[in-house]
Amino acid sequence: MADGSGEVSASEIAVHWQEEEYYPPPPDFVAQANLTDPKVSERFALENFPDYYHEFGDLLDWYKPWDTVLDSTNPPFWRWFVGGELNASYNCVDRHLAGSKNKTALYFIPDSEDEPIEAITYQELYVRVNEFAAYLRDGIGLRRGDRVTVHLPMLAELAVTMLACARLGVIHSVVFGGFSAQACADRIVDSGSSVLITSDGYWRAGKWIDHKEKADQACDLAAGEDHRVEKVLIWERHRGQYRSEHPLVEGRDVVIDDVIGEFRGQRVEPEHMRADETLFLMYTSGSTGKPKAAQHSTGGYLSYVTAMSKLILDLKPTDVYWCMADIGWITGHSFIVYGPLSLGASSIIYEGVPNHPDAGRPWRIAERLDVNILHTSPTAIRLLRKDGPEEPKKYKYHFKLMVTVGEPIEPDVWRWYYNVVGQQESAIVDTWWQTENGGFLCSTVPALLPMKPGSAGPGVPGIHPVIYDNEGNEVPAGTGKGGNICIRNPWPGSMMGIWGNPDRYVATYYARYCKDRESKDWRDWPYFAGDGAMLASDGYFRILGRIDDVINVAGHRLGTKELESAALMVPGVAEAAVVATRDEIKGIMPEIFVSLAPGVSPSEELGRRVIDSIVREIGPIARPRKVWLVPDLPKTRSGKIMRRVLASVSNREDVGDVTSLANPEIVEQIREMVQAERLGHT
Ligand code: WTA
Repeated sequence: MADGSGEVSASEIAVHWQEEEYYPPPPDFVAQANLTDPKVSERFALENFPDYYHEFGDLLDWYKPWDTVLDSTNPPFWRWFVGGELNASYNCVDRHLAGSKNKTALYFIPDSEDEPIEAITYQELYVRVNEFAAYLRDGIGLRRGDRVTVHLPMLAELAVTMLACARLGVIHSVVFGGFSAQACADRIVDSGSSVLITSDGYWRAGKWIDHKEKADQACDLAAGEDHRVEKVLIWERHRGQYRSEHPLVEGRDVVIDDVIGEFRGQRVEPEHMRADETLFLMYTSGSTGKPKAAQHSTGGYLSYVTAMSKLILDLKPTDVYWCMADIGWITGHSFIVYGPLSLGASSIIYEGVPNHPDAGRPWRIAERLDVNILHTSPTAIRLLRKDGPEEPKKYKYHFKLMVTVGEPIEPDVWRWYYNVVGQQESAIVDTWWQTENGGFLCSTVPALLPMKPGSAGPGVPGIHPVIYDNEGNEVPAGTGKGGNICIRNPWPGSMMGIWGNPDRYVATYYARYCKDRESKDWRDWPYFAGDGAMLASDGYFRILGRIDDVINVAGHRLGTKELESAALMVPGVAEAAVVATRDEIKGIMPEIFVSLAPGVSPSEELGRRVIDSIVREIGPIARPRKVWLVPDLPKTRSGKIMRRVLASVSNREDVGDVTSLANPEIVEQIREMVQAERLGHT
């Protein structure tokens, strides 16, 4: 990245976080935890790599044991548990039947509180997965290695679909239900799917959303690229009632409930998959170019998410576990479906949104089902804090562990999560990782290490992170300097490649810090994550955000999160987003967009307090040029704040196509506001 100042090394991000206080693991949590052996760090020391990953593989049932833990002869194309054979569907379903077939595998919680919660036992899941697999194989003719695109909302049928595919060795590519027809079509074409699995519709915050419409459009768009979708299979949100306004297309569309009866009672022998055969594709955006599909393996991926669920989420078969993510993202794949079911726990699929009909909903669900592990994101936590800061106190529930993932969490938000949601009796893990990684990279081991708000923690057992500056020098711990976080060693959860594009895989993740492109030694191939981070003297990593979220003000690099965190300390501020805007004198200046808590009205005084807080926390160098008090911030459907859209508004550039955002209308409002102000000044 060009620095431009010539004075400060581009590799050095001046970081101004203050150190936060430690919170010890709650004693009741420690007393029952899965992982309490302090020797774990010795066992997982780098000199024992890769053999220590035996422990992960041993958590699964194998048809054939592996010969080699890691084949690294063709870096960076790692192959884990080579020679081993297994099936993910068997591991997530069949193996629990003997001991706990009557136990709830999945709870489906509908959007409406008036509609009953559905509890699906392991036996019931087994039956549904087998019948659907039988249909996919014998009714549709799908075979091992075929790809299927799945564009489903949060329904139990989504998990059934994934597990049925896995049973047959069919590679599923789940596209987030909120994504557009265009996004779905792009993924159908790229993955070469001839079958699309969808639903007639779903409920979201009290509204019926017709989903089948997108399937029709996606098929047309794919056809425009000479790709034919042969079959569209449709799950009905309400069994036996097709509620879409878009009629079935003759010869192409099938309502699954109309045909599944023919497969009643059928059982499908799970395919014996090689550990390094692909289990699924998951598309993700890079900084440039079209979305790319991370290609995840059967043995490496499943062992990794099982181990992470056990060691970091402290998941036990007796737990009721709720991950609020959407299954259409990697978090949902790993930590709603594969990890929890592999361990035989009860996992929740929630159709709705966190604050509907009000911000008490999550806590009522927790109370009703006795949820004891909660997994969510800083965005959801900020939303629930904004809409109902006192709400959790009204309900009786107990979380032994809470998870945060997806973005850096501001210490102030972390403390609300800990004090109010967790009632000071829950451990918190701040888990840093990515779509490409399969499972966690950094987090504290909850019973062994104290928590530090805003810091993910050290590498999880087996992961050895390092920070490099732009020249490839290691940035040591405790310098207060940030850099690019990388992982020294391969790990089983890592993707095997980018589907159909091996060069892009190497270029994006390994070229940057590869010490020798000819080398066959894994030590020469650190994984480049694309995040800025800093390492404190206690060995905890603090993630500063994507490298493109770092702004350079007059030669000083500032993490946008630092400014946002300072703004959030001001009472009345609900959310904040910093963008880099061009400045004649300083090159780049931050501007900050702030949304306010309900009942708080915008005032100059409040804007001043935001600036004071930033100057106080970071220093005058970080003083934003402008504080915009806005009604809401533009967000993606997955809840990420679209800083780039705000930056375009600030820089008076074209904002591009914003129709896929959760709240596109807000962009125009903000644009008008910014324009009016700027006109007034010139
Ligand atoms: C960010 C989601 C700070 C990071 C699992 C990463 C985080 C990107 C954290 C990946 C965290 C994820 N703290 N930042 N705990 N977790 N991120 O692929 O910038 O949707 O690169 O995977 O989210 O997002 P993705």
